[in-house]
Amino acid sequence: MAAPPTIGLFAADTLAVAKTAAMHEAIARRRMELYMGRSSDLGAQTLCLYTYAARRRSDAVSGLCRTPRKQTRSARHSRRFHHVLEWAQASTSASSGMPWIDLRSDTVTQPTPAMRQAMATAEVGDDVYQDDPTVIQLERLAADMLGKEDALFVPTGVFGNQLAVFTHCRRGDEVIAGDDSHLVWHENGAAAVISGVQLRTIASRQGLLEPSEIASRIRVGEDIHIPRTGLICLENAHGNGRVIPLATMEATAAIAREHGVPIHLDGARVFNAATYLGCDVKAITQHVDTVMCCLSKGLAAPVGSILAGPAAFIKRARYNRKLLGGGWRQAGVIAAPGILALTEMTQRLDVDHDNATYLAQQLAEVPGIEVDMEDVHINMVWFALPDGVDMPRLMQAFEAAGIRANGAYGGKMRLVTHWQIDREAIDRTVSVIRSAVAG
Ligand SMILES: Cc1ncc(COP(=O)(O)O)c(C=O)c1O
Repeated sequence: MAAPPTIGLFAADTLAVAKTAAMHEAIARRRMELYMGRSSDLGAQTLCLYTYAARRRSDAVSGLCRTPRKQTRSARHSRRFHHVLEWAQASTSASSGMPWIDLRSDTVTQPTPAMRQAMATAEVGDDVYQDDPTVIQLERLAADMLGKEDALFVPTGVFGNQLAVFTHCRRGDEVIAGDDSHLVWHENGAAAVISGVQLRTIASRQGLLEPSEIASRIRVGEDIHIPRTGLICLENAHGNGRVIPLATMEATAAIAREHGVPIHLDGARVFNAATYLGCDVKAITQHVDTVMCCLSKGLAAPVGSILAGPAAFIKRARYNRKLLGGGWRQAGVIAAPGILALTEMTQRLDVDHDNATYLAQQLAEVPGIEVDMEDVHINMVWFALPDGVDMPRLMQAFEAAGIRANGAYGGKMRLVTHWQIDREAIDRTVSVIRSAVAG
């Protein structure tokens, strides 16, 4: 692995240079404090930080350089020193040394230093033999947190959703899902390929499926012409960033129970949904039979998702995971950061949500920009730029400022906050957009 860049630390009259080893030591000692939502605390730091790698960029303020505020003396500097090192390390791409402000998605999150440490020291076994202690610990923890009997660690969210469909359904079954759901839009038609099911879509109202419409699509009975409804798939939080109310989940569960049809929840961001609703995640998952949740999005694990449900279902899913080539061996190495994702990163999602609201408010103040304020439930902000903004130039300006963002989709741009985005990164992004809008 390429060594992280040497970091220089400037105060008004102080220059300290921390080499890589010292940085790592500091990071290991101070661990999660920054990631538990105190990054805004850094705004009050008296230090100006600058990576030598970043210095090579023509733009002197590539995202790591903070404007020194009121300067204070060295005791405070040293107390804060490790925090800043952590922040610098966390904000610097290890591969390129460039501190990107990456707002494309929460899938871009890099593992925290604590996660890297946990990976290095993870106890491992052979998970196909079911004797990898770290995987076992992760699966037990996930099952408990999600309120299910058992859980299975799987490589990705798509894998988890498809494994659920494959395990719940028979070939030829019908799966009811929202017409804008991840399952329908972004999973390569896998439900047809892997499980041989047909998807019966329902018009989604910004992610919400009316329980009565689900009821009207359910097909059960003896008629030899019709397929059986094998599964209902919900998504919460929806990929558009909106959260489905608990009352809707409850009403859907009642209908599903009445017809004896199971519900699977694509809960890629179910912890964000719980944070938004201010409830325990179990208040959501109690209304579904099985749930997939991603450890690798806002929760920052480098890889992995969880499929949780009844013990008998997870036993069959374990068999099917192996069938699909997903039986992994010394997976404790990647399960270890998943444990931190669940225990620590779930506790700080409100910071990302607050930052998304802040971003939305800042954008709304730019003349001509229309922000979907009522859609800011979790960490996603959607907005429309005024007519005439030169998109290629805006993307170039982002690039030059060390910002990554996806272009407009259906006339709207989406920016996503996560643990590596703080308010300074947001201010910087908004200022680039403001300049682009001003022409
Ligand atoms: C709602 C939703 N479900 C499932 C997934 C799939 O997750 P993965 O990329 O880990 O396969 C995503 C990915 O962004 C998602 O947004």
